[in-house]
Amino acid sequence: MDKQFTILGLVGSLREKSYNKGLMRAAQSLLPEGVGLTVAEIGNLPLFSEDLENNAPQAVATLKQQVEDADAILIATPEYNYSVPGVLKNALDWASRPYGNNSFDGKAVAIMGASVGMLGTARAQYHLRQIFVFLNMHPLNFPEIMVPFASQNFDAESNLTNEKTREMIRQQLEALVSWSRKLNA
Ligand code: FNR
Repeated sequence: MDKQFTILGLVGSLREKSYNKGLMRAAQSLLPEGVGLTVAEIGNLPLFSEDLENNAPQAVATLKQQVEDADAILIATPEYNYSVPGVLKNALDWASRPYGNNSFDGKAVAIMGASVGMLGTARAQYHLRQIFVFLNMHPLNFPEIMVPFASQNFDAESNLTNEKTREMIRQQLEALVSWSRKLNA
């Protein structure tokens, strides 16, 4: 039997009823056969400091190990001030360090995002793609999942209700698995 394909999820919002947590839950319910998706805890990481990176706290070691063990990364993030939320950037910075020990090196990654605005996190997603260059990550190009006007697409518990978006997420997960397999063939 083939080994299970593992995806590590990173969510860029700590808000309890986060729409982006809702996107990640939707992904967990739409996984292809033989694929597992674990969501990393990034809200307990300290703020990054180079002074700490050679003696990092356990939460950092745990995150780095989860990233290294994953076959692919899935990010669901809001857009804050036209860019990537600090909580997500902090996690990316931690797991990319110390220099020469970048846990993300060579990983396939896909992005989803929901915002209350009309561009559905487009600007944050393109900033993330720029960050992936230095992380040497390989972003999936299509399908892009950008959910605008979030209150119209999620219920009161921030569960995704838009069927078209659910179908896009299903397609993105399948594409991410085959993209990762192509990269590692
Ligand atoms: C926002 N929001 C926002 N929305 C957007 O479309 N573009 C933006 O640049 C910003 N900027 C921004 C900055 C900060 C500090 C906050 C707190 C919010 C609104 C954002 O889309 C909304 O709060 C979402 O609900 C956040 O996602 P979660 O927490 O629901 O996943």
